[in-house]
Amino acid sequence: MSASPDFLKALKLQNPILQAPLAGGGDTPELVAAVSNAGGLGFIGAAYLSPEQILQAASNVKSKTSRPFGINLFAPSAPAASLISPDTAIRCVAPYFSELGLPAPALTAGPPFSFADQLAAALETGATAFSFTFGLLPADAMQSLKRKSIFVMGTATTVSEAIELEKTGVDAVVAQGSEAGGHRGTFGGDFSASMIGTIALVPQIGDAVRVPVIASGGIMDGRGIAAALALGASAVQLGTAFLTCTESGVPEAYREAILNALEDQTRITRAFSGRPARGIVNRFMTEVESNDDGEAILPFPLQNALTRPLRTAAAKNGRAEFLSLWAGQGVRMARRQSAAELMARLVKETDSAIRGLQGTRSHESVPSKSGVATN
Ligand SMILES: Cc1cc2nc3c(=O)[nH]c(=O)nc-3n(C[C@H](O)[C@H](O)[C@H](O)COP(=O)(O)O)c2cc1C
Repeated sequence: MSASPDFLKALKLQNPILQAPLAGGGDTPELVAAVSNAGGLGFIGAAYLSPEQILQAASNVKSKTSRPFGINLFAPSAPAASLISPDTAIRCVAPYFSELGLPAPALTAGPPFSFADQLAAALETGATAFSFTFGLLPADAMQSLKRKSIFVMGTATTVSEAIELEKTGVDAVVAQGSEAGGHRGTFGGDFSASMIGTIALVPQIGDAVRVPVIASGGIMDGRGIAAALALGASAVQLGTAFLTCTESGVPEAYREAILNALEDQTRITRAFSGRPARGIVNRFMTEVESNDDGEAILPFPLQNALTRPLRTAAAKNGRAEFLSLWAGQGVRMARRQSAAELMARLVKETDSAIRGLQGTRSHESVPSKSGVATN
């Protein structure tokens, strides 16, 4: 029941706590740096950033910390072959655009940069770690990361995905349980069959691979961290818990929605992006899904591009009913606090949860076995 010292050493961490990449603006440089400064690993979710924005974000982080940090991208996938006409999906979202006074929705061209361009920028950032989700890395991408001695982590939602990732040379696997907020990382099978809870997923992946496993999904406090370490995880990755930190970049309406949400108010939806993701149930999610006859939601990333102007305007206007409120099932445990406060609290709680499991109440006489620095 201890964080792997090798894992902590490889990443020069004091605490086995990773701030999940939060693509879309949640992970500001202030948040990333605060987590790294507290001995954890802050991550820049760079999937939607241009190469220039990736370099700028990393430079902002480095102006606030000299500690290690990570960069995350979406693994490249074949371009969405839209077999269906976009007309129904466009018609379906049009009333919401008009409600917010926006021009009529339209499908726009994809971003003017590729995964290879983003990776080339990521390689120049000085990041200690690189993680990815939605698939496997091309061999040349893996080689270029290894040449720079960057620690590489891939996301798995099943044991077979973890095994595939290990074969491609990742240094660790992020085991994403079904409780997790945000997009499902599933790439090797059916989305709904790959909804394995963190408590079942982590030990089964741990039994199947030799690389360290990072537990992710529904972990919000030290009890969850202690449980993950007991299951054999070398570290944990928390997303939702960091979204309500003062440094997070999410709009206030989003933060409030998380702080007020209960554990039964999140659901997996394709309505916003075309790819299954967990978020707090709201009007857009419910109405678009109820209209979906198989043609009302385009495949990722087309639906994501289609709904982006609506989400951007909703963020400006504080309209939570049109925002993708990505959050995990641990929402009831979310708190408004600074990232430094959250990190200090996680460390303290983990230590006391582990002491509780060991059946001792003496905080002074028993050395910490968690690998979690208590100072
Ligand atoms: C707002 C948000 C954005 C996310 N963006 C990314 C991302 O860009 N890349 C990634 O690998 N995971 C992303 N995730 C998923 C996290 O890595 C992680 O699996 C999840 O947050 C863990 O569950 P929790 O939110 O219950 O802690 C995101 C999650 C959220 C909530």
